[in-house]
Amino acid sequence: MSGKHWKQLFNPGGGLRYHARALLYRDSRWMPFRQDIRLWLEEWIPRPSAASQDLLVIAPSGGHCLPSSWLGSFRSVSAVDIDPLAPLFFRLNHAAALPSGQLHWIHGDVFQDWQDLIGQHPHHLILFGNFLGQAQEVDEKQAKVWFDVLAKTLGERKWASFHDRYSGVIKPIKNVTALETGTRASSQEILKHFYAPYSTGELCEHELPPIFPEQSSYRYWSWPLSRRQFHIIEGYHC
Ligand SMILES: C[S@@+](CC[C@H](N)C(=O)[O-])C[C@H]1O[C@@H](n2cnc3c(N)ncnc32)[C@H](O)[C@@H]1O
Repeated sequence: MSGKHWKQLFNPGGGLRYHARALLYRDSRWMPFRQDIRLWLEEWIPRPSAASQDLLVIAPSGGHCLPSSWLGSFRSVSAVDIDPLAPLFFRLNHAAALPSGQLHWIHGDVFQDWQDLIGQHPHHLILFGNFLGQAQEVDEKQAKVWFDVLAKTLGERKWASFHDRYSGVIKPIKNVTALETGTRASSQEILKHFYAPYSTGELCEHELPPIFPEQSSYRYWSWPLSRRQFHIIEGYHC
């Protein structure tokens, strides 16, 4: 493995630490969130209609939060991630539902390869798999440029994204239900729904690209990434 590849094993958006957390928590702490993501994805593209469509998943890591049955219902799935270990975990997680002939793995950098990716997958549905909210942590400068490009290139494409809107050490209310809104939720709405009054602690609001319309349906979930790190995830599809 080259030095560049080693570096990607520890990238801030994923890598070894993320796989280790996934192995530890995917069937326990993460389970309610994973189930909600499955329902939400099945609402976006119901399984019967997926059979005639192709999916491009952006930065899915090992697909630890993605439902195998839903992925396997597509005619084909292409996945791109910079982490050299991601395809191994993705196959371990999904091989039973997604045979290798149906899965096309691309080891690449979405910031640099975006125009090629989108050009080579002109009819694919696009799923950003919990990446947009972390893009600025990966590389602030490149992400800013890419955010502008995204706004211009997504155009009429059908796409979905679930991504970090907030994260931090403040523990959301126990067993809090998902929040559904008809317009994009304001910070106040999110904080009021997910956190007990007078909660204290540091909360990070994640930078997102200017691709989200105000007037549309949104869903929000609480995701306990670890024992001390909690995320509020925003979901949007068109
Ligand atoms: C939080 S993980 C995705 C989680 C995943 N959806 C799941 O189901 O568990 C974010 C991913 O973004 C990837 N990533 C970070 N920078 C990238 C880049 N420039 N190009 C492609 N992938 C990148 C990381 O390697 C990581 O796998």
